[in-house]
Amino acid sequence: MTLTAESFDFVATLVRRRSAIQLGVGKEYLVESRLSPLARSAGVADVDAYVHALRRDVTLHDQVVEALTTNETSWFRDLTPFTALRSTVLPELAAAGRTQVRVWSAACSSGQEAYSIAMTVADEFPQLTASITATDLSEQMLVQGRAGRYSQLEVNRGLPAIMLVKHFQRQGATFEISPALRRGVTFRSHNLLDAPPPGGPFDVIFLRNVLIYFDVATKREVLSRVRSVLAPGGTLFLGAAETTIGIDDSWQRIPSAGASVYRTHEKRAA
Ligand SMILES: C[S@@+](CC[C@H](N)C(=O)[O-])C[C@H]1O[C@@H](n2cnc3c(N)ncnc32)[C@H](O)[C@@H]1O
Repeated sequence: MTLTAESFDFVATLVRRRSAIQLGVGKEYLVESRLSPLARSAGVADVDAYVHALRRDVTLHDQVVEALTTNETSWFRDLTPFTALRSTVLPELAAAGRTQVRVWSAACSSGQEAYSIAMTVADEFPQLTASITATDLSEQMLVQGRAGRYSQLEVNRGLPAIMLVKHFQRQGATFEISPALRRGVTFRSHNLLDAPPPGGPFDVIFLRNVLIYFDVATKREVLSRVRSVLAPGGTLFLGAAETTIGIDDSWQRIPSAGASVYRTHEKRAA
């Protein structure tokens, strides 16, 4: 390993300041492996030399933060949130006579989550129009989400064959999501440390598998900002390993299909 403790600290501080992602002791190999390709393409000897360049050149900082995000995602990830959406949340909105549902897929990675929601609404609640705002810090992920183009390997991860046939077109070695579904999803660059994106108030917010990277104070701030754009009676989905318990008492966990579903304590709107 070529990374000195001082260089590791510099990168960890930069990433924490810009994204709130915590790179604690033990993440040295992650930093080394994620920054190696950047060092190679910058033509410098090793990662330590690249970190020296970072100290002088702030224009390189965005790509370092981006390289240290973890973008793991899949279609209908964990299944239970989509079961809860289909069996509880969307039926309630439809029964209330709603024709439009506003959704925020926060920290959406390459868009599989947002498009999984779009397919659920289109296939099972055709009386509803979904207006989905999908946001992430990573520009690379947003580019892929906007293109709606996925490899064979990516579609193999959780996308039922019937949905592949119905909602995608094959383009050589890739699969492209239908224009109708793509039109319903707006991808925006957004940092969860900033004010929420436009498009709210949202009836449903997916904020999954991102709070795990933050410290407790940041989780609390993010949950508070999310609360400010959740419609009265709206629903928050967190990742399976995430909770509001012990962090922000304004939320209560709602038993629904075994998913991490939360609503605020306020009275639901009629
Ligand atoms: C593990 S992925 C989760 C994707 C999707 N929500 C899911 O559950 O499948 C985490 C995403 O959070 C994004 N992210 C990390 N820190 C962020 C921040 N401060 N603001 C916005 N997005 C962030 C990363 O770029 C990455 O795409």
